[in-house]
Amino acid sequence: MRAVVIRSPGGPEVLELRDLPDPEPPHGHVRIRVHLAGVNRADLLQRAGFYPAPPGVPADIPGLEYVGTIDAIGPGVTRYSGGERVYGIVAGGAYADRLLAHEREVVPAPAALSDEDAAAVPEAFLTALDALVVRGRLVPGERVLVHAAGSGVGTAGVQIARALGCFVLGTSRTADKLDRCRELGLDEGIVTPGGVFAAEVLARTGGAGVDVVLDLVGGAYVPETIAAAAKKARIVVVGLTAGASAQLPLGVLLQKRLEIIGTVLRSRPIEEKIEAAKLLERTLSPWLSRGIVRPVVDRVFPLSEAAEAHRYVASNVSFGKVLLDARS
Ligand SMILES: NC(=O)c1ccc[n+]([C@@H]2O[C@H](COP(=O)([O-])OP(=O)(O)OC[C@H]3O[C@@H](n4cnc5c(N)ncnc54)[C@H](OP(=O)(O)O)[C@@H]3O)[C@@H](O)[C@H]2O)c1
Repeated sequence: MRAVVIRSPGGPEVLELRDLPDPEPPHGHVRIRVHLAGVNRADLLQRAGFYPAPPGVPADIPGLEYVGTIDAIGPGVTRYSGGERVYGIVAGGAYADRLLAHEREVVPAPAALSDEDAAAVPEAFLTALDALVVRGRLVPGERVLVHAAGSGVGTAGVQIARALGCFVLGTSRTADKLDRCRELGLDEGIVTPGGVFAAEVLARTGGAGVDVVLDLVGGAYVPETIAAAAKKARIVVVGLTAGASAQLPLGVLLQKRLEIIGTVLRSRPIEEKIEAAKLLERTLSPWLSRGIVRPVVDRVFPLSEAAEAHRYVASNVSFGKVLLDARS
């Protein structure tokens, strides 16, 4: 197989395309001929040496999501026989043209989606749906705030909240991304060059604040988010691009009876990965097939240009997902 390997921790230049032996699927696993893989911030962290792969996945091949075709079946596999087009999340190894996954983590890709669109779905949409609805207990009619609304997860979160009939506010440091988010259902966009937004959120919600926050930014956004929260709001912290620690105004937390919930997909045990796969298959795939939500692809790089793709993601200019094409 061809795989992008992290030669040693460092900058994008440490990513190297290598020929490696094809992996054989163990019991309960299938091998997937990867068509495209998504690029995620976690891959950039892993490459730099800050986010090691969990046990059981390749330590030096990044990649958390894919679309592809099953090309080999391990012993004991009952759900697939080979040739099916599938998509899903894995804990690593997707920057390659061959990938192993447990058959129950693998989901049939909707026929209505092109390969490019399918590859843009799993990590962004599952993260957003899980954070908003499972962790954040979002219900129709609530007010939602999505930070970094133009990101891969953010563009998914805006659409999911809108599909549930919520009033959706979003932040970004880039005005143009908020304009594009309006086409996805964003009601109110707030440009946040200095990370200040609470007064605007309160003004645009008639003083009430927001019920659920999809926080993809963390750091200094957290106290502002708490100021922007309605009573009994749920703040789901998913990403830490602005920093891994924050000042917490605990008095406000108590007075408003807020919940701050942290979440991560990658390190979950297999049982929870299977639950996530069910969410993808039973909720998101039908929504995508019916056009209730749609993937947002910014740019596709050949697998051989993974380093360039990492530089591009780090530049913060992308809107939606950046992908790697393992067929080219
Ligand atoms: N917990 C999980 O399981 C999980 C799963 C997936 C993703 N994540 C995390 O969720 C976040 C979003 O992921 P993604 O793949 O959707 O990201 P992405 O598409 O690469 O977009 C991230 C955006 O965040 C904004 N940003 C970057 N640095 C910032 C800063 N210092 N302050 C404020 N905004 C900043 C930028 O947009 P603007 O500057 O234009 O606003 C950037 O385009 C990342 O932190 C990622 O690691 C977590």
